[in-house]
Amino acid sequence: MKTILITGGAGFIGSHVVRRFVKKYSDYQIINMDLLTYAGNLENLTDIDSMPNYTFVRGDITDIEMVNKIFDAYRIEGVVHLAAESHVDRSITDPAAFIRTNIFGTFNLLHAAKEHWKGNMEGKLFYHISTDEVYGSLGDTGLFTETTSYDPKSPYSASKASSDHLVRAYFNTFHLPVLISNCSNNYGPNQFPEKLIPLCIHNLQHLKPIPVYGKGENIRDWLYVEDHAAAIDVIFHRGMIGETYNIGGNNEWTNIALIRALCDVMDQKLGRAQGTSQQLIAFVKDRAGHDMRYAIDSSKIQEELGWKPSLQFEEGLSKTVDWYLENSDWLENVSSGAYEKYYDKQYNQR
Ligand code: NAD
Ligand code: DAU
Repeated sequence: MKTILITGGAGFIGSHVVRRFVKKYSDYQIINMDLLTYAGNLENLTDIDSMPNYTFVRGDITDIEMVNKIFDAYRIEGVVHLAAESHVDRSITDPAAFIRTNIFGTFNLLHAAKEHWKGNMEGKLFYHISTDEVYGSLGDTGLFTETTSYDPKSPYSASKASSDHLVRAYFNTFHLPVLISNCSNNYGPNQFPEKLIPLCIHNLQHLKPIPVYGKGENIRDWLYVEDHAAAIDVIFHRGMIGETYNIGGNNEWTNIALIRALCDVMDQKLGRAQGTSQQLIAFVKDRAGHDMRYAIDSSKIQEELGWKPSLQFEEGLSKTVDWYLENSDWLENVSSGAYEKYYDKQYNQR
């Protein structure tokens, strides 16, 4: 029996990771620690929350007493750390929360792991989930590799870069067994509608304008979230301690091309005349310091660990739109803040 702490497991990517681990590894005890900020939602996990190898703990990674309590109570042997403030736009309006959670929170977890595993690091693992944004912004050519220099440009990416440095410092200084992966843009079910794809789906459903920052020429490399969860599984089990792995979809799109493709999928699925949704495209003021292009070279994880993306983008986009259309209650609830009521009902009124 292995007891694994997954932080941020009620969020977008975290919920897919929790589901995968709980279902696939019945001999693991999965502890999901999540503060349930606006981005965390227990509705993401209703299909697995009564499984015997799953426990949810509401807790803040910036609270060292809470983190220590969890390490003590559950004798944590592995950590998959996803909890973070994750939205670039919010890091521009409220950077303090990013510094607190992403830097200080990661430090607390590292410190707790080091103190609890002192003298017996055998079989222990601290796996930190990071982003390709730490590498900054690419020009027209080139790809981010694991040795690309860090050059973060937003408070979000600077806070993630800082947390990556802390993880490496704990490896070098204290021999904490660590792994890091840096992934490109994820999309798929359960993503909070502040992010581009679910925001567009939500607006298009309600025939509201689609806000495209600047000229829409910025490029992102999109990966289906379950492919990211599969990569995390592979790295957790087979990654070399101390190593970093880049994860990407080899799937670059300008924002405007992606939005046009999404508009066409929405028209088709909603039975609207082709071109209806594209008329809602509205160019708006650019994001401050907007990174131009991200693109990942994922040959290391492909060659060394045998992972590769399983879905073509067209298929992934179609599955994603289907999920949001079939789960419009989920979308409306998270858009209205009703998921806090869900938490109360689930835990406080028992
Ligand atoms: P998300 O915003 O959907 O979820 C974050 C989760 O962390 C939420 O459940 C939230 O409640 C929880 N959380 C926030 N602050 C917390 C705190 N102080 N204590 C405990 N829990 C807290 O984020 P996501 O998009 O699922 O991203 C997860 C991780 O993956 C992040 O570390 C992010 O940097 C990284 N990442 C995301 C992407 C992407 O495209 N979304 C790509 C690469 C890496
Ligand atoms: O690359 C990985 C990163 O991808 C993750 O680390 C972040 O957590 C995740 O949020 C994501 O960051 P981006 O800033 O790339 O994602 P976002 O969905 O916010 O925006 C995608 C692109 O779309 C970006 O170029 C900005 C643009 N955009 C976004 C929004 C929300 C718009 O044009 N209009 C919008 O309304």
